[in-house]
Amino acid sequence: MSAPPGASEPMIKLCEVDDLADGDLARAEIDGRMIAYARVADAWFAVDDTCSHAKVSLADGIIDEDDLTLECPKHGALFSLETGEALTLPAIKPVASHTISVRETGVFIAVAEQEEHA
Ligand code: FES
Repeated sequence: MSAPPGASEPMIKLCEVDDLADGDLARAEIDGRMIAYARVADAWFAVDDTCSHAKVSLADGIIDEDDLTLECPKHGALFSLETGEALTLPAIKPVASHTISVRETGVFIAVAEQEEHA
């Protein structure tokens, strides 16, 4: 369900394509929400930056370019870069994943709705 810039889904400029090298990870604040984003070759991924296990920045973690996972720097839980799913303990909850669209030299993001926590 990715929408290109200009479609109904609001897209916000995240960065320029050249701002991130292949295999790099960074964080950005979008509308007050911290997002971790990564580039693997020509593919881009974005998930919420705060680990679902504790308040740690996933942008300080390590990505596996083959498995497309992001390892939390604190306790080593693995998250899917594609879906945000928690793949290993100690994290059991996913982190939200966000739609990325590359248009010419710009990288755009549509931030997912924030889930309400009871
Ligand atoms: S803080 Fe991320 S796995 Fe514990």
